[in-house]
Amino acid sequence: MPGVVLVGAQWGDEGKGKATDLLGSRVDYVVKFNGGNNAGHTVVIGNEKYALHLLPSGILSPGVIPVIGNGVVVDLEVLFQELDAISARGVDTSRLLVSGSAHIIAPYHRTVDKVTERFLGKRRIGTTGRGIGPAYADKINRVGIRMWDLFDEKILRAKVEGALDQKNHLLVKIYNRRAITVDETVEELLKYADRVRPMVADTSVELNKALDAGRTVLFEAGQATMLDIDHGTYPFVTSSSATAGGAVTGSGIGPTRVDSVIGVIKAYTTRVGEGPFPTELFDDKGEFLRKSGGEYGVTTGRPRRCGWYDAVIARYAARINGLTDLVLTKLDILTGMEKVPVCVAYDVDGVRHDEMPTDQTAFHHAKPIYEQFDGWWEDISHARTFEELPVNAQRYVRALEEMSGTRISAIGVGPARDQIIPIHDLIHPR
Ligand code: GDP
Ligand code: IMO
Ligand code: MG
Repeated sequence: MPGVVLVGAQWGDEGKGKATDLLGSRVDYVVKFNGGNNAGHTVVIGNEKYALHLLPSGILSPGVIPVIGNGVVVDLEVLFQELDAISARGVDTSRLLVSGSAHIIAPYHRTVDKVTERFLGKRRIGTTGRGIGPAYADKINRVGIRMWDLFDEKILRAKVEGALDQKNHLLVKIYNRRAITVDETVEELLKYADRVRPMVADTSVELNKALDAGRTVLFEAGQATMLDIDHGTYPFVTSSSATAGGAVTGSGIGPTRVDSVIGVIKAYTTRVGEGPFPTELFDDKGEFLRKSGGEYGVTTGRPRRCGWYDAVIARYAARINGLTDLVLTKLDILTGMEKVPVCVAYDVDGVRHDEMPTDQTAFHHAKPIYEQFDGWWEDISHARTFEELPVNAQRYVRALEEMSGTRISAIGVGPARDQIIPIHDLIHPR
């Protein structure tokens, strides 16, 4: 039974890594189903802090089988760097499974990502530069290289040739770069073939069998709802399905397998990279959130843009993902504010919008309509029950719950594993 999907409800970095870790001891499999090493998940266990990019956060939980699903794009060099780095710290990585159908980020994807961003200039997306978009573009364009292809040099060579054909025209004629050769690419990719071979499997079969046998499978999203290729703030999005539907296509299970969908949401909002962000703060309050929340990217180190909680986005995320539960994180960071504003609707050119406008121009014009909540001053990082929270913090949480229409099942009050207020069980049948 339980198939549990866990997604980000905002623009990423909500604390998905910590939430996954929280469930770690109770799940049998943790599946990454989208994205690649553009993600950056922080997990704090005792005095140890781990930053994971390509690997599912569940790899840190003893007994869990970590799975990289078919919806992921895999940079092989990064895969082994990350595996070696956490193995060196004593983590058992031997159970990792990688879908044979997962696409590979080849060196030319990184090159294309960087030159495209430079070429876009003012219109750039602010990508992580990891080759994510170009790898997914090749997948959709049907010129991608998949894990299985690594094990047949002839096929690999033919596919690399096909993929490089157009790209070299682009690189040389438009971007004024040197051409990338088939030989250097094939040689680079083959370096990893023998090492990755034992990990590669038909992970759809494995996961469906596990669910049949009553195992608990957690599907952990990278990125988040507002960065989803279909439902995010296009074109300022990542190139994969980061919403709950992606868990199904990105791992080869049916939608009837999913029992619950957990949305992880911060008590305020952050965003990295370009694109619209209605509640963004440009003043000392934004600086306060960035400093006290440690809002700097785990992957690129970029300062994150910070703003108030946006209930329109929370409602949108609840709808798009069919959320059953919310995990509210970083409530502790809001301590010490006189008033805490929450965006309850948008004003778009004089018209009130209670729902997220999916018209790009309308969203660019959206001005937040705020409701003010009374703040609290007490240190809440030691609270372990809802009743221990100051009454104004309780009111804030209850209001967010009501506005999103989704129950808040846990509240984060610090980065450590035990800094959490459990409210409802997060693993439950539908
Ligand atoms: P992810 O990408 O969604 O996994 O999130 P990140 O790891 O990029 O960013 C979340 C950051 O917040 C990490 O540094 C976490 O250690 C930290 N964190 C998670 N939950 C809490 C919380 O409840 N309170 C505080 N203060 N920090 C938290
Ligand atoms: P986690 O999993 C926050 C953003 C980038 C950029 C856009 C496209 O840690 O929440 P890409 O390299 O994916 O083509 O960049 O998406 N982005 C993230 N922002 N958290 C992430 O992951 C992100 N992954 C990508 O900053 O704006
Ligand atoms: Mg992150």
